[in-house]
Amino acid sequence: MSSATTGDRIWYAVLFHLTRQESLTIEGLRDEMENPPARQTIYRRLESMVDLGVVEKEPGEGSAPSVYRDPNAEKRPRTGKEKPQVNYPLYVHNVGGREPDGSPTYIGPWTFSTKMVRDVVEEWIEGRVLNACAGKTELEHDAEIVRNDINPEMDADLNLDVTELGEHFEEESFDSVVFDPPFDQSQAKEHYSMHDTQRGPARRLLMRLVRPGGVFIECGWNDHGPALGYAEDWYREACHRYRRGPSYQPMFLTVDRRRTVFG
Ligand SMILES: C[S@@+](CC[C@H](N)C(=O)[O-])C[C@H]1O[C@@H](n2cnc3c(N)ncnc32)[C@H](O)[C@@H]1O
Repeated sequence: MSSATTGDRIWYAVLFHLTRQESLTIEGLRDEMENPPARQTIYRRLESMVDLGVVEKEPGEGSAPSVYRDPNAEKRPRTGKEKPQVNYPLYVHNVGGREPDGSPTYIGPWTFSTKMVRDVVEEWIEGRVLNACAGKTELEHDAEIVRNDINPEMDADLNLDVTELGEHFEEESFDSVVFDPPFDQSQAKEHYSMHDTQRGPARRLLMRLVRPGGVFIECGWNDHGPALGYAEDWYREACHRYRRGPSYQPMFLTVDRRRTVFG
């Protein structure tokens, strides 16, 4: 930090606090700095972060100092190294019974044709979406969805193997990526007459297409996803578990978010 300007030092200190301590006051920040700049300078910087929506401000009452908080602090582990992350919501859905309107429901090969699943995916996707193994089901969304499926019989924009998508698109060019490949080898053969794909390597390639702050939605027989194991710059926003009756294993839908420099 020796060649850093005062402005750089302020940002560094602010980010340091917000990624580790969740909240700060101007006084607390000045106490930590070797050569603190004017209080007013720190104030202006923090207020501009509030305007950008990066931090939230809780004005102090009377002579108490205002507290600036990281709105995402609760969603992530403190150091990024602690595992497993367990502070995300788990939603449990019962399929194999009936939808609230009485219609029968089960999870078949076209996962998102099940309303209980489709509703969740449509709720989470945002901005420009890549549906990497799009299958048959169309998702409703108010922005662009790029549909890819290796099977040319599917109504898709692209018919690439999912592992080729990383080369086809610019890194960080999607706000959301949806990854619903065949769940296992036998499913791949039985229902899609296509080869299974290697889920882990494919996931790692797809993760790079998500912009910082964007989401990765994945379906499968377990709750693996970007936030479990591969990278520290992801955290889990939610996990949905779909019970399929007493004799069948449940299906999982995970929602992981890529961190920004602000956490
Ligand atoms: C579980 S289905 C997707 C269902 C889809 N979400 C829906 O609701 O219709 C898996 C899809 O992945 C496609 N697929 C299989 N292997 C693939 C690969 N290597 N690259 C891209 N797509 C693949 C299959 O053709 C199939 O349509």
